Amino acid sequence: MTAHSPPPPAPPIGLLVELTHRCPLGCLYCSNPLALERPGAELDGETWKRVFSQAAALGALHVHLSGGEPTARRDIVDLTRHASQSGLYTNLITSGIGVNEKLTQELVEAGLDHAQLSFQGADKETNDRLGHYKGSWERKRAFAAHVIKAGLPLTINAVIHRANLHQVAAFIDLAVELGARRLEVAHTQYYGWALANRAALMPPKKQVDESIAIVEAARVRLKGELVIDMVVPDYYARYPKPCAGGWGRVAINVSPSGKALPCHAAESIPGLEFWNVRDHSLSDIWLSNPAFKAFRGTEWMREPCRSCERREIDWGGCRCQALALTGDARNADPACHKSPDHERIVATAMAESESGDGVLRWRSYKEKVEA
Ligand code: SF4
Ligand code: FES
Repeated sequence: MTAHSPPPPAPPIGLLVELTHRCPLGCLYCSNPLALERPGAELDGETWKRVFSQAAALGALHVHLSGGEPTARRDIVDLTRHASQSGLYTNLITSGIGVNEKLTQELVEAGLDHAQLSFQGADKETNDRLGHYKGSWERKRAFAAHVIKAGLPLTINAVIHRANLHQVAAFIDLAVELGARRLEVAHTQYYGWALANRAALMPPKKQVDESIAIVEAARVRLKGELVIDMVVPDYYARYPKPCAGGWGRVAINVSPSGKALPCHAAESIPGLEFWNVRDHSLSDIWLSNPAFKAFRGTEWMREPCRSCERREIDWGGCRCQALALTGDARNADPACHKSPDHERIVATAMAESESGDGVLRWRSYKEKVEA
């Protein structure tokens, strides 16, 4: 088989909007870019509403209202209402902090379809420490209760790493106790902020394998009650994941200031110009922005991806990880065992998981460091 030119892109399925980078938490694995955008640069409500209307007209099906903490926006109810009235399925991705029963009810009445609530640990001490927010445990649990009371489907999101991997079984119990329909057990993806914490967060492979066995057993036990999705650590995988569903294929991210991105870390790749929704319609961006075309399809690929039978399954993995770990975004994601860099990164992961380097850098507008 040979690589071929990409056909004109189908419409994006979803839109992920980072409404703000403001956030009460300080997660060690924060997926927002290293340079956070300040509140003064955020899009105003009318511009966000125009973006939602354009997304629906373009054919998108859902919008993830994310951040930072999206409810830090005072107009979150208004924005949710407009997204819903535009015909988009609306998902709120939240820390749950600051979302009381009244606000939850208002969001539901505005048309919110789904809530995704993060936990940093499966008990109070671990959760509050790893999220760097005292009292967040009680607030998160209260928000979960408001969501269930309002009749909204709830997903619990647990990002896993060396400091909480031993709690996978407890996360499953927590999700069942809270009445969630779905639990995401997602191992940390090591780019951006998480890359700076990699030596402290990388788990040993044996512990990862044990956590996979726990999840598989729970899937059988809880069939029909709780769906459990699991993302395993890239570095121990045989094949990479199709990051963002493939560059410029299914999703558009929009940053707080309106930059449209093919994935949340795209700005780490030099030489790409990302158009802003203030100046361009989403349709124009999707069809014409060279940055969205840069790694769309298979034409850009080198070996081993270029002739690989999986090239339209994982689309070569993650461009941002390829850049961060090999120095070139056009290389195969080194999570792939066919990548010439794979052995080196697995060896690095194993060494770091044994290193005992416990320096944790919490995310904040001002870096917080705890040794
Ligand atoms: Fe995916 Fe490239 Fe690895 Fe093939 S060689 S499995 S396309 S990353
Ligand atoms: Fe950018 Fe994976 S995060 S392609």
